[in-house]
Parts: sequence; C-alpha cells; structure tokens
Amino acid sequence: MRRARTGRRLRFTALGAGAVMVALLAPGGSAAAQGTVAPAPGSNLSQQTMGNLLAALNGESYAYAKYDAYRQVATSPLAALWGRTADMELRQHFAHFAGAYRLAGTDKANLTAAVAGEAYETTDMYPTFAREAAAAGDQAASRLFGELAADEAHHRALFAQALTATNGGGGTVPAPPSVEPVKVVVNVATVKPHTLQNLLTAMHGEAFAHAKYLTYAQAARTHGALKLSQLFAGTAKVELREHFATEANLAGLAGGARANLLVAIGGETDEAKVVYPDAAQQAYLANETVVGNLFRQTAHDEARHAASFASALRHLTLPDGTAVQLSQSPYRHRSGPMDGTGPLARPALDGTGNRWGWGL
Ligand SMILES: [Fe+2]
Ligand SMILES: [Fe+2]
Ligand SMILES: [Fe+2]
Ligand SMILES: [Fe+2]
Repeated sequence: MRRARTGRRLRFTALGAGAVMVALLAPGGSAAAQGTVAPAPGSNLSQQTMGNLLAALNGESYAYAKYDAYRQVATSPLAALWGRTADMELRQHFAHFAGAYRLAGTDKANLTAAVAGEAYETTDMYPTFAREAAAAGDQAASRLFGELAADEAHHRALFAQALTATNGGGGTVPAPPSVEPVKVVVNVATVKPHTLQNLLTAMHGEAFAHAKYLTYAQAARTHGALKLSQLFAGTAKVELREHFATEANLAGLAGGARANLLVAIGGETDEAKVVYPDAAQQAYLANETVVGNLFRQTAHDEARHAASFASALRHLTLPDGTAVQLSQSPYRHRSGPMDGTGPLARPALDGTGNRWGWGL
C-alpha cells in the first residue's frame, strides 16, 4: 500500500444552549486515540452521559462503515437498503451525538486533536499491531499495519502543517492526501484471533476518524476555511476508502447477504433494546432530559432498522428455494470467523463498564 503520500440539518435541534450543531452535508475516520477524545471543554453533561455519547459515536461511525461495506458487495435492492441505512447512521445518528458531545471545536482544537490521533496511530497502535501480527505469523497483516503506520505519519504531518498555518506561524494549509479506493469484497478471515481482534480495533478507529474528520470538515466550511475543510474531507476519504476497506477485507467483514443481515439485525436489536434505552435511562437520572430523549429516539430508529433488515431477510431464499424463517432467531446464529466473539456475540463489558465490545 503506497499510501503514505498519502445531509442534512440535524433533526434534533434542542440539545441545549451552546451545543455545537453538526450537519454532515457531504457524503462521506483511532480506536484508542481517535475513539477516546477527551470530553469537550465546557460540557456540563455528566461523565456517564459523556461516556455513553462517546460510545455511541464509536458505534454509529462503525455502523456507517460496515453498512457501506455491505452495500458494496450487495445487489439491488438490498444495496439500496444498506446505503439508506448507512446514511442515517452517519448523517443523523452520528451527527446528533456529535452535536451533543460537542465533538467539533475551533479549527485549532480540531487540528490539535487530529494531530494527536494520527500520532498515536503512527507511533503506538499500528507499530504494536504490526509486531503482534508478525509474532503470530500473520505476515500480510503485519505488512498492512506497517504501511498504515506510514500513512498516518503522513496525515500527522499534513495536519501539523495546517495547524502551523492556522496559528499564523507561516506556510499554507496543504492539499489533502490522494485516495486510492479499495473495493470491499466478500472474504473469510484467515488471521489468528488476536490479529483479528486488532484488525477490528483498527477498523473502529478508522471508521471513527472518517466520521470525525467529516465533522471537522463541515465545521471549517461553515466559516469559510475551505482549504482546511478539503484537507479534513480528503483525509476522511482515505481513512474509509483505503484503510477501513483494506482492513475489512483482511478481517472478512463482508459475508453473504443472509450473514450480513443477521449480523446487522443482532447489532440493531441490541442498540434498540439495551444500549440506547440504558443510556437514556442514565441521562434521565442525571436530569439530562434532552440527551435522554436523543438516546430514546435513536433506540426507536434502530428498532426500525432491525425490522427493515428482518423484512429483507424474509425475502431472501435459501439455496434449496425455501424462504428463510425468521423464527430461526438471529441470536442463535453464531457463525463467523471469531471464536467467542462472533458477529452476533453479545458485546462484552469492557474495562470501563460499558458494553461496547467489538464485533464484526
Ligand atoms: Fe444508529
Ligand atoms: Fe489517518
Ligand atoms: Fe487511518
Ligand atoms: Fe441502525
């Protein structure tokens, strides 16, 4: 990978005084660093709600990238359903949560965060993943992680140059990196479980970086910083179309139509019935009604997504010509490349007590 050189208005409009409203008007993101940006200064939300919002941002950006990958391997009309749903995850759900979280700050703050995220990936995450993959005998994955580290170093340099220019320290905001899109294909992972887990972590980071940079691009555009907007938007494209896509192919993200629908139904159902209702309840308990309503409304949306995917599944036929029976509960579907962390495995609680585990 020689890449080293390389909307809509928010439907939810009452997130409180001073909240940054984010509108992602253009189509279209690191795990640890990109996905754990510090709470925005000035937020008066509880730590619990800020944590839930951050988890939601991670989940929605990943849902977008995953459904967009499914779209690429689907035929009509299923491809259109994936595309429509992906758009809603990004342009509505991610955008609403970004507004509540105040993800976008000033251009300087956004550039500083971008430099920090890219630096983490360049010097820590990807080099570690490359070493671990090599030790596991996954040479192709090790090479990929090494190439991605080089790409991220280039991104860091571009953002640092833009930050200097924005601070009045000389120079100009550079052009965005070039994009060499990678097509997502149906594939089966052959890497070791630990490498696969690292791939999934990296994919979440790339998806988050993509959505975050689009948010920063929109913020820059609103006050006429067009070159900076182009730098963020162009880098976002690299994160999704090159980095996420290449990792997705190695991780075997995209499967057949039925498998993809079952994975999606499991994720949507968990968000609709557990994750967002819990987050809403916690917000209400903290008297954060507006954000509570946002979580509750999003839960309703996810239930509709689950129903749409279930309907699509009913219209598929099995190889013997019979229709798929939804009574075969998707939650019993455990196929997938990962032992114990298969596509529909319930996300485990992580060290912070939330339930946002990485599943395909
Ligand atoms: Fe969503
Ligand atoms: Fe990057
Ligand atoms: Fe990246
Ligand atoms: Fe959804």
